[in-house]
Amino acid sequence: MEENKKPLHVGIIMDGNGRWAVSRGKKRSYGHNAGSANVDRIVTHAFQNGIKTLTLYAFSAENWARPQEEVDELMRLLKVYFKKFIKKIIKNKVRLFVMGDLTKLTDDLQKTIKECMDASAQYTEHVLNIAINYGGRQEIVYAVNRLIKKGQEITVDGISQELYTAQFGEPDLIIRTGGEMRISNFMLYQGAYSELYFTDVLWPDFSETELDKALESFVGRKRRFGKI
Ligand code: IPE
Ligand code: IPE
Ligand code: MG
Repeated sequence: MEENKKPLHVGIIMDGNGRWAVSRGKKRSYGHNAGSANVDRIVTHAFQNGIKTLTLYAFSAENWARPQEEVDELMRLLKVYFKKFIKKIIKNKVRLFVMGDLTKLTDDLQKTIKECMDASAQYTEHVLNIAINYGGRQEIVYAVNRLIKKGQEITVDGISQELYTAQFGEPDLIIRTGGEMRISNFMLYQGAYSELYFTDVLWPDFSETELDKALESFVGRKRRFGKI
């Protein structure tokens, strides 16, 4: 059997922070802090292993329904993350992109995100795409509306070209940590033929070795895209 090449675009549903904390007798926010600390080690390892685009699901359009205190903590952690990112842009040469409806974020967070995106826009080797206030259904509606406004026909390719990720293509592999076997509104359109990898490992524990296991699993699969 012909083996797959390594994936170029990987999406990760970073789930399990809350349960990680609660199992240690701590508050959920403790898990979000640990989860946030895990992001850079996985980003670094991914880019060292041939992944060009890494899409991370950080906050869904449905996550606003959580207690305000938890939402506030997640927004605070995002701001801290992007502020740190700004300082490392030149050294790391990673392009940062944020996808989702950003208008619901505070002005300050929107401004920080824009700074990161603008200052890293010239880098092409590695893209870190972070999904915030993101929903796959909402994204499809957004793309269709853009086609309508342009007076263009609604076609499969047309929608692809108006998605947030148009320039980054579709994920070859989608990983979900935390044991749930569902997509939770992540990359519904682009994920039509993505390979899926589910692991019980909770996001704060998802190490470089765990990422390697997911990549190995991908390499061993046969993608048919409807053919034989
Ligand atoms: C993922 O961890 C982070 C976000 C959804 C923001 P969770 O907070 O969903 O953790 P669990 O699933 O409750 O353990
Ligand atoms: C998906 O996790 C969203 C993110 C990881 C950001 P959730 O914890 O929100 O998903 P459900 O509620 O279990 O489907
Ligand atoms: Mg969860």
